Amino acid sequence: MRMVDLIQRKRDGQTLSADEINFIINGYTDGIIPDYQMSAFAMAVYFKDMSDQERADLTMAMVESGEKIDLSNIFGIKVDKHSTGGVGDTTTLVLGPLVASVGVPVAKMSGRGLGHTGGTIDKLEAVPGFTVEITNEEFVKLVNQNKIAVIGQSGNLTPADKKLYALRDVTATVNTIPLIASSIMSKKIAAGADAIVLDVKTGAGAFMKNLDEAKELAQAMVDIGNNVNRKTMAVISDMSQPLGFAIGNALEVKEAIDTLKGEGPKDLEELCLTLGSYMVYLANKADTLEAARNMLEEVIRNGNALETFKTFLRAQGGDDSVVDDPSKLPQAQYKIELPAKEDGYVSSIVADSIGTAAMILGAGRATKESTIDLAVGLVLNKKIGDSVKKGDSLVTIHSNQEDVEQIKEKIYSAIQIESNKVKSPILIYDTITATT
Ligand code: URA
Ligand code: CA
Repeated sequence: MRMVDLIQRKRDGQTLSADEINFIINGYTDGIIPDYQMSAFAMAVYFKDMSDQERADLTMAMVESGEKIDLSNIFGIKVDKHSTGGVGDTTTLVLGPLVASVGVPVAKMSGRGLGHTGGTIDKLEAVPGFTVEITNEEFVKLVNQNKIAVIGQSGNLTPADKKLYALRDVTATVNTIPLIASSIMSKKIAAGADAIVLDVKTGAGAFMKNLDEAKELAQAMVDIGNNVNRKTMAVISDMSQPLGFAIGNALEVKEAIDTLKGEGPKDLEELCLTLGSYMVYLANKADTLEAARNMLEEVIRNGNALETFKTFLRAQGGDDSVVDDPSKLPQAQYKIELPAKEDGYVSSIVADSIGTAAMILGAGRATKESTIDLAVGLVLNKKIGDSVKKGDSLVTIHSNQEDVEQIKEKIYSAIQIESNKVKSPILIYDTITATT
C-alpha cells in the first residue's frame, strides 16, 4: 500500500477500506507517513467526505492507536457524557452525582485543559482536600462502591487523534464533520464508554454556530457510535447565552450544589434532567425516558442526589461540609456589581465574550502554564428575555483584583438590552437517535 495512492483515491471521491484506513492511521502515528501526506489526506476528506463505514473505521483506528481504559471490573453499563464546548457548562458536575444516585456507574476520567474556566478536575479541586490522584484500583473500587469517582487523565489515549488534531489546526481542516465526529468519538470509546450521551451545543458560544451544522455533527457521532456497538444519543442544546448563572470554578461548584438541591438555574436543571434521562435509559436502569426522568426528579426531591455528591467528595479526600455551607469554598476578595445602563429587556449575552471576561479574571487558562484562580468568575443576574431597570445588576464580578474596568467594558459590550420584549431562547432544539 502506498499513501499517495490512498490520497489520490480519496481526492477522487472513492471509498477506502478498513485496512486502508488502518494503514493511514498506524503509519501516521508511527511517524512513517509524513505530515505533508496526512495534510493532503485531511484536505481530501474535507472536500470529499467519508462514508458511514469509513467514519466508523477511522474512529476505531484512532481508538486502537494507543492505550485504552479497561472498565470491565466496574459493574453495569458505563455511560459517558460529552459536551461540545460551551461556556460555564456546569452539567458534568451535576450529572455525575445525579445519575449515580439511581445506580448508573459514573467512571469519569477528566482533564484540566484550556478554556474559559477550568476542566471538571479544576472545578472539583475548589473543594478543600479533594484529589483525583487515586490509583486505578481505588478508582474501580470507588465506582463499584459509590457509583461515582473521578480520576485524572493518564495513559496515552488516542495518540493518532492528538497528532491529527494538531495537524488539522494548522492546515485549515478542523472544520469537517467526519474528522470532528471521529475525533470526539474515538476519545470517548478509548476512555471505556459502553454507551454515550452527547450534548452538542449550538449558538454564538458554541463550536457549531448554526443549528443545521450542529444536527449534522450530532447525527454523524450518533451513527458512528451505533455502528461500533456503543449505543449513542445526542441532544442539541442552546449556547446562545451561557448555561446557568455561574462561570468560574468554585462558583460552578456552588451552582451544582444548588441544582442538586433543586434550587439551581432552571435551564441548567432542565438540560441535566434531559441528558441524565438518556444516561439512565442507556444504562438500562429505566425502560422509558419518562421513567428515567421521574427517577432523577425523585433523587433531587428526597436529597439522595446531594448525599451522593457528599459521599463522592469525602471518598476522594474532599471536605463535604462545603455542600451544606458553600461559603467554605474559595471566595473572591471583591464582589463588584455591573449596573444596567438603561431600562429594557436583555436580548443577547454573547457567551464567548462572557467566557473570555471570566478567563481574564483568572477563572481559566490562556496557556498550559497559566494557573487558575478557583475563586473568581462571573455570576449572571439576568438572562435573555429578562426585563431590567436602569441600575439593576446584570452581572456580579467575583474578582481578586480591585480594578476591573476593562472587564466591565468587555461584559457591557457582550450584553445587549432592547426596549422591546424579548423571548427567552429555546433550550433544547432537537434529539438525535440512530437512523434506522
Ligand atoms: N473537538 C475535538 O475533540 N475534535 C475535533 O476534531 C474538534 C473538536
Ligand atoms: Ca454555569
